[in-house]
Amino acid sequence: MTMHNLEMDDVVILICSSSDLVDGGKGVRFPVTAGGEDGTGFAIRYENAVYAYLNRCAHVPIELDWNEGEFFESSGLYLMCSTHGAIYIPESGRCAGGPCRGGRLRQITVFEKDGQVFWRPDDYIKPARA
Ligand code: FES
Repeated sequence: MTMHNLEMDDVVILICSSSDLVDGGKGVRFPVTAGGEDGTGFAIRYENAVYAYLNRCAHVPIELDWNEGEFFESSGLYLMCSTHGAIYIPESGRCAGGPCRGGRLRQITVFEKDGQVFWRPDDYIKPARA
C-alpha cells in the first residue's frame, strides 16, 4: 500500500493508474477497514468520472463482484451485485432496482491526480491494516 501525504494530516492512498479504469468497464478493488472490519473498496469509471464504494451490497452485506472487478451489468449503465441482482446508480450508489430496497452503497472519496487514482479515508472507512 502506498500512502501519500499531500498536505499535513491529509492521507490519501493510491488505488491504481487512471488508465486502469475504463469507462463502464472493470473496476479495481482495494483493501480497507470498514467500521473496524477488514473489507474491500472498489473504484469504477462512469461517464469519465471516477467513483468508489465499499464493496458491500445493501441487501446482504457481501461483495458485489462474483467475478473479480466485474461491477457493471451488461448494459454498462448500472452497478450490479452478482449474487441476487441488486442494481445501483454508478454516480450515487443509490439502489435502482432489485432486492436492495432503497439502500445505497457506501461512497468512498476518490480523486484523480497526475494520471493516478487515490482514495481518502474518513471516519468509517480507514486504511487496511498492514
Ligand atoms: S446480496 Fe447483493 S443483491 Fe442480494
